[in-house]
Amino acid sequence: MLRQIRIQINFLNSTPTNSNRPTASSQAGKTGQLIGAQKSPSLPAFFSRYQNRIDEALRAELVGLEPDMYDIHRYYMGWQEIDGSDSNSMGGKRMRPTLAMLAADAVSGDLERALPIAVALEYVHNFSLIHDDLEDMDRVRHHRPTVWAVWGEPAAIVSGNAMLKIADAAAWKLRSAGVEESVALEAEAELTSHYLRMMEGQYLDISFETEESVSVDQYLDMIERKTGALIEASIYLGSLVAPTAGPDRQKATALKSIGYELGRIFQIRDDVLGVWGGGETGKPVGADIKRKKKALPAVHALSSSTGPSADRLKDIFRTEGDLNEEDVHVVLEVMDNLGTQDYCQTMAEQRWVDCKRMIESLELSGTTATEFTELGEFLLIRES
Ligand code: IPE
Ligand code: IPE
Ligand code: MG
Ligand code: MG
Repeated sequence: MLRQIRIQINFLNSTPTNSNRPTASSQAGKTGQLIGAQKSPSLPAFFSRYQNRIDEALRAELVGLEPDMYDIHRYYMGWQEIDGSDSNSMGGKRMRPTLAMLAADAVSGDLERALPIAVALEYVHNFSLIHDDLEDMDRVRHHRPTVWAVWGEPAAIVSGNAMLKIADAAAWKLRSAGVEESVALEAEAELTSHYLRMMEGQYLDISFETEESVSVDQYLDMIERKTGALIEASIYLGSLVAPTAGPDRQKATALKSIGYELGRIFQIRDDVLGVWGGGETGKPVGADIKRKKKALPAVHALSSSTGPSADRLKDIFRTEGDLNEEDVHVVLEVMDNLGTQDYCQTMAEQRWVDCKRMIESLELSGTTATEFTELGEFLLIRES
């Protein structure tokens, strides 16, 4: 049984979120399905096609692993509560394994061959989140306390590292799924190089906290690494390993470029949600500003404000430690005056125009081209 060290939840409830402003989703209306009273766009329908298979394979990786550390993993994946009892809380969207499976379908591949890499990608992702929560000092994710907030920082470091090894072990199973040794080795090497890029991005993200100014180009380079790399890997590796006749390299490379673009769109929207998101994010909204994160809204506000508000903003971002509530308010006001939310959303939409064209130019199997398009449109307006 696990020992709960201390749970301290800080929802940042008092941070303003501009909830009266029309959000991109309320304006968009054109894409995504709106569900229930929350009016949150739901995940594209193709997610459910792979859901059970992915969930079963993810759970199988932890079966028989006894030490308490794996209960932390089961908690974070959404299958257990802190006290070890069963939970039905959804860990996350499972987007990366779903993309690997969709990419496998897009090249008429065998889903069984793609499954080990899909599982590995989700464990790499969750490892990165366990550490990210600590790096960003976020106490809540998926509406639940984060690992370091419950079990402490050392436990978050060690259990995160262990989860990365679970991912590597899952990828090894490509062989028993029928993937040829040379392709399996290639996929493993690609997985490693992509998660290394992810770590490079995380390092840049942290170091930008104390940089006075970060350009849009620096920001884009950072997000392409920290988030783009794994999304790109999901689509690329799913399409690489799945064909029974061996990889169709031309198609896999083209799909990789689509993953690259979707990764950027995903993170830009994530940055918008970090400032103007609602309760559905499952995370404290406003935390990015409080911690002086150089997410796109801050990059835009710092680089485009002029006169006294520019001076005020610079002073605020020079403050030691976290910003107080009043400073967060000032930053939000400046962003409001500058149209920062629209700037960010427009940047994501511009990237989508190119990405959609790329999807349309490829000959993808069955309904998958439409489904990639549904995904892109969802990523522009998602609320969680
Ligand atoms: C969150 O990713 C972390 C980033 C890379 C921005 P997701 O939104 O895909 O995480 P889940 O759905 O909670 O797993
Ligand atoms: C997370 O980036 C990226 C990785 C975990 C690799 P963020 O810190 O911006 O994401 P959220 O907002 O906490 O999910
Ligand atoms: Mg974070
Ligand atoms: Mg982070």
